[in-house]
Formats: sequence, C-alpha cells, structure tokens
Amino acid sequence: VADIEPGDYRPAYHYSPPQNWTNDPNGLVYLDGEYHLFYQYNPQGDTWGHMSWAHAVSPDLITWEELPLALAEYPNADSTETMIFSGSVVVDSLNTSGFFEPGFKKGMVAIYTSHVHKDGEGTDQHQSLAYSADKGRTWKYYDKNPVLDLGMKDFRDPSVFRYQGKWKMVVAKPKEYTVLIYESDNLKEWKRLSEFGKMGDMAKIWECPSLFEVPVEGSDTTRWVMMISSAAKDTDFTGMQYFVGNFDGKRFKADKQRGVRRVDYGKDFYAAIPYNNLPADQAKPIILGWASNWAYADKTPTSGYRGMFSLPRQLSLKLDSSGVYHLIQQPIVRKGISTKTLTMKAPDLKAGVILKMDGNSYHLNLTIELAEAENFRVKLFSNEKEASILAYDIATNQLTFDRTKSGNIAFHKKFPSVEIMKVPPVNGELKLDIYVDNSIVEIFANNGVAVLTDLVYPTKKKGEAIIGVN
Ligand code: FRU
Repeated sequence: VADIEPGDYRPAYHYSPPQNWTNDPNGLVYLDGEYHLFYQYNPQGDTWGHMSWAHAVSPDLITWEELPLALAEYPNADSTETMIFSGSVVVDSLNTSGFFEPGFKKGMVAIYTSHVHKDGEGTDQHQSLAYSADKGRTWKYYDKNPVLDLGMKDFRDPSVFRYQGKWKMVVAKPKEYTVLIYESDNLKEWKRLSEFGKMGDMAKIWECPSLFEVPVEGSDTTRWVMMISSAAKDTDFTGMQYFVGNFDGKRFKADKQRGVRRVDYGKDFYAAIPYNNLPADQAKPIILGWASNWAYADKTPTSGYRGMFSLPRQLSLKLDSSGVYHLIQQPIVRKGISTKTLTMKAPDLKAGVILKMDGNSYHLNLTIELAEAENFRVKLFSNEKEASILAYDIATNQLTFDRTKSGNIAFHKKFPSVEIMKVPPVNGELKLDIYVDNSIVEIFANNGVAVLTDLVYPTKKKGEAIIGVN
C-alpha cells in the first residue's frame, strides 16, 4: 500500500486556504448571490502570526473562489503592529454608518478586534471598523478607530447583527467568562446593554461569542442561541458550548440547563460563527467552524498550508419530551461526492462488510437497525497497522471515536484522543452520516442531533472502511 504524502491531506470538499496558516472564520456574510468567507490568516507563513483577514467567495457554500487579502496587519507610528483579530461583517443597507454614498445599499462594514502590541507592556484589544463599497474586494480602515475600547488586554471577537432596527454586538471578556451586549445606531457609537456569563463551561477562556435566532422544528417559533468557543472537558483542549434562551433586545437569558452543552463532541470544531444577512428564503442559520484545536493547531503535519474549515452547517432546534431544546446541525455538502448508503441489521454486522472506497474522500450514510445487534465498529482509513475507529456501545448508547491508532499521531502528545458522545437510538435505529475527507472526519448522528469532528492523519493510501462487530 502506498504511503501518504503530506500533500494528500488536503481536503477535497472542505475549504482549506491555498497556502499558509488559518484559524477562525470571520465576517461570514451573504450579499448579492455571494457567500463571503473571511478568515484569520498569516500572509507570511504556516504558523500563527501577522494576523490578517483572507477572503474567499462562493455562490453556494460549496465551490470557493480565492480573492486578495481583505484586511492586512499594519504598522503603527511607534513601530508596533496592529493585528486584525476575529470579528464580523454586516451589510449596512441603510448607510447608518455614513461610510457610503447616499442611497448606496450594498456597503459592507467589518467590526473586528484590533490587537495592538505595546512595547514591553503586552497587548491591547479593542473593537474597530473597516468598510468596503465593492463587496469586500477593497477596504478602508475607519480613521477614528477604535470604536469600543475598555482599556483591556483581553476583550475581543465582536459579532454584530441587526435586530429591531438597531445594531447589536456581542463581544467577549475571555478571562472573565462573560459576554457583553452592546447596541448602536451607526456602528460607531456603542451603548452597553447587558452582560451574560459566568455559567456553563468556565474551564479556560471565552472567545468568539455569537447570538442568533434559531427556528424550532415542527413549529413556527424560534429561540435564541448563544454560542461560545471555550474549553473542552479536558482543559488542554478547546471546544464550543451553547446556551438556548431568550433575547429581548437587551438581555440574553439562558434556559435552565443541566451540565455543559457541546456544539460538537470532537476535538476539532472551534470559533464557529453564523452568516449575517442570509436571503429571506433561508430560514435556518448557517455556521461554519475552524477545524482544528489550539492544543496542537500549529503542529499538524500538512505541508504548504495549515488549517481548514468544517462543512457549513444549517441549524435548527428540536424540543424533547422533557422540555429541553437541542441543537440540530445539518451539513451543506457538494453533490456528487462518492457516497455509500447502507442499512445493516444484526446478522449483517456479524458478517461484517469491507467497503472499498475510491480514495479517502467520501460519505457513508449508514442506518443500523439495533434489534439483537452487538456492539459494532466502523473502521476508517483501515490497514494492517492503523485505523480511525468509530464504535457504538448498545448498553450505554455511547458513540466513541478513537484516533489513538489513526496514523501520524506523534506530531503532538495531545493529539491521540478518544471522543465520546451519547446517541440514543430513534425507533430502534442509529443513523450515521460520516463525512471522510482525507484528513478530517465529521460525523452527524441521527440527522444531526449529535456531531463529532476530528482531524486524522493516516499514513497509507487505502480507502477502505470496515463495518462489523470486530
Ligand atoms: C480564537 C481566537 C480569537 C482571536 C483570534 C486570533 O481562536 O483566539 O479569540 O480573535 O483567535 O487569531
């Protein structure tokens, strides 16, 4: 079996930058038939640094066209640098900011964190503006930046949206586990409304907050969701949590919840934010996340580029019989990727099946009828030496993903890991949509009730998946 070359890790149907380092998606916004993807980018190399916003556009969230760098790090008079950290983009169709010609409806305003190194004094973070009158192709920095400055070292990742005729912003105080909510008429002057936080997961830090309305399935109602990038169970890792609740225009109040609610149970889904300004026929919010983890992000064994994004995901909420709302995530995927659809019952699992896939980029659509079934496994990238193993335990309803023998795991001691998520069967069945794409596995269980995203780096080119009890 042929060895995998670093170049083979580039995903085929997930977005990855042509070269260099990327982390968070930024400024996700739709305008005039284009979905914009801005993202944290180092124009000078494949590790974190010189943070700027790169830019790509897509007509359908599936095929992407690279555009020139949108917002670049710039030098300050005192020889320090201002980096362009994460943030959002809005379409200022009423020209509330006054940045555009009167009546111009297609102005874009970016609200981002300016991260300034101060010689010998650490850093400073405040919120700043840039604007574009040509659909994000060229930008000007606002000459009176910053627009929101608390004089803090850590204060970042503004997410701005339009609600009830005003601009609202959520922005994080990472080390205090809080999100501040602000309001503005013109994007330049911000009035503080409220504070949310000090609950849920407070193991590490809070970053990249977002607040948006999500439709409840089978009803014509909505609830609000607050998403936060924070820590995972083990504080060496990062991950995302969410709160469901109500936003009255001023304050977000979370429903009572038991425990921490994870957006994704894998190790590689972070900094996801929603699209702004979606077309009216698009009722479900769409998010996408950075598919990596701060624990080892700068060590992953790709060459030429480092970092990629998850599939875009459409969100809804489902109310369960105990009155709890659950996030449902449905991926947006290119049609025509190699797909195997299989229904398996107990005897089929016992006999086992080897799926010879054409390469390492494909989709498995499995329905497992659990009556009389034994615990079973789905082995991906499987060969004599290695496999990434998804296993289901019937008694506990636990789905685990084990990448401790998945191939190249040696690049960082934190990388080998086992993820666990609980997925109770529905009508005696377990449905698994497994998206495998060269170096990423995204698993959507039972139509997106539980999701798990992990990077893997197999060492052999052998597109084989084995399903069975062994
Ligand atoms: C999250 C983050 C943000 C920050 C950006 C810097 O991954 O730490 O809080 O704005 O990355 O690149």
